[in-house]
Amino acid sequence: MFPLKRSNNSQFLRGRLWEQVFGRTEMVAAGGKNGRSWNLGVVCILTVVALSVHIFASSVVLPLFKDARGGGGNQSRFFPPASSVSGNEQRLETPARAMAVGSEEIRVSETSGSLPTSIDSVINLDHGDPTMYEKFWREAGDAARLIIPGSQTMSYFSDVTNLCWFLEPEFAAEIRRLHRLVGNAVADKDSYIIVGTGSSQLFQAALYALSTSPEVAGRGGAWPLPVVASAPYYSSYPAATDLLQSGLFRWAGDAVTFKDGREPYIEVVCSPSNPDGFLKTESVASGNGMVIHDLAYYWPQYTAITNPADHDIMLFTASKCTGHAGMRLGWAIVRDRDVARRMIKFIEISTIGVSKDSQLRATKILKTVSDRYEVETTEESAKLFHFGRKTMRDRWRRLQAAVAASNVFSLPIFQPDYCNFMKETTLPFPAFAWLKCEHADIEDCESFLRQKYKILTRGGMHFGADAKHVRVSMLDRDGTFDMFIERLSSIEL
Ligand SMILES: Cc1ncc(COP(=O)(O)O)c(C=O)c1O
Repeated sequence: MFPLKRSNNSQFLRGRLWEQVFGRTEMVAAGGKNGRSWNLGVVCILTVVALSVHIFASSVVLPLFKDARGGGGNQSRFFPPASSVSGNEQRLETPARAMAVGSEEIRVSETSGSLPTSIDSVINLDHGDPTMYEKFWREAGDAARLIIPGSQTMSYFSDVTNLCWFLEPEFAAEIRRLHRLVGNAVADKDSYIIVGTGSSQLFQAALYALSTSPEVAGRGGAWPLPVVASAPYYSSYPAATDLLQSGLFRWAGDAVTFKDGREPYIEVVCSPSNPDGFLKTESVASGNGMVIHDLAYYWPQYTAITNPADHDIMLFTASKCTGHAGMRLGWAIVRDRDVARRMIKFIEISTIGVSKDSQLRATKILKTVSDRYEVETTEESAKLFHFGRKTMRDRWRRLQAAVAASNVFSLPIFQPDYCNFMKETTLPFPAFAWLKCEHADIEDCESFLRQKYKILTRGGMHFGADAKHVRVSMLDRDGTFDMFIERLSSIEL
């Protein structure tokens, strides 16, 4: 009965718990003969069980585990024996974690976002983390600095006269200005600009908007609507589509083998493609498809700008344009007002808009980029797309030379095209290398690079492709890339 003294109460609870687990404690406490011998019996049984588990684990499970990670006689100079492997490296070995196919885009590990510090460090090129651009923005110094007073950006609202009421007007103006300058997308006043927390949020918003279109039902569509992309496709699409097990849409795999084009479906076209860098168009030739164009890499540092893209829904992201992934800002250019309205509704319900601080910062960043192109005397190294293109070209040349000298790997072969922005013919320099292990002895290229050489990449299975391929980020810092080339060049079979 209340009030129970706290100490009594907790003793009582502890006693009950102990009793439930081990039973009959009161007999021991009472010092009864029966109780004591019963308890001794329990202790003996537990000791025997614990010893058996220990012997089984050390003699059977541990050797099996070592075999599975290629231990024993198969050690490489980059992979120390298990006993000397500490925290970070141990995480590398967990096969379930590394092989969780298509389950997640960002697999955060202790090496994510950091520089390899020694010759045998883990080189993490799994993510497309665009730290390559830090050098450019460090040199830009004060030109891209922004101070936001404590009293600013406090309201939820940015411009209530705009359909996208959480979009900062200056940011929208800089987006349109940049697309006009580069000529990579039609972003005139007739189109709607929608800001998102990364283009990842806009992808979800677009799926929602398209799958709730009144026309879907009119055209005989059945929910959940299939979502497809031609393989190899960006590894986040399946995970992002199926995360909430929506009743509106579901991931249906490779667009090339998709057979149900007679009913409404959604196709995602990523061009240039993550992971392989090729330009892409729709794969399913059917009037029932609604298309989302993910143009994250349609910028002059990665590919020739041949014409301004002009599609119903186009997604862009600061992450890959200027390298500001941490700002978490993307934008969509949308033709149809109703589709735009439903995308805005999605963002309204999920996050009540998008960070104003980020939008102000992005405004400053985009303005710095465009301003520098409008001043004729600006040096090339201070122009973002020139800096990006030069860095990517140098990296691709070095990677191609290393691959050509090896008997293990191959890379895709690209064709040159005329770039209207750079005013010259150029090869593509994709943000990722779609590397193939050609050697007959290697079936799983991701494991081969990870286990023997401590190079983290993303295996082809995550992209709807085979395990002979891996995706390697080309956007990391100089030091990481240098070490990658050096280590790759040392691989011989
Ligand atoms: C093709 C593609 N789309 C979208 C994204 C996500 O961009 P964000 O950082 O804006 O969410 C990425 C990021 O790697 C990407 O590669």
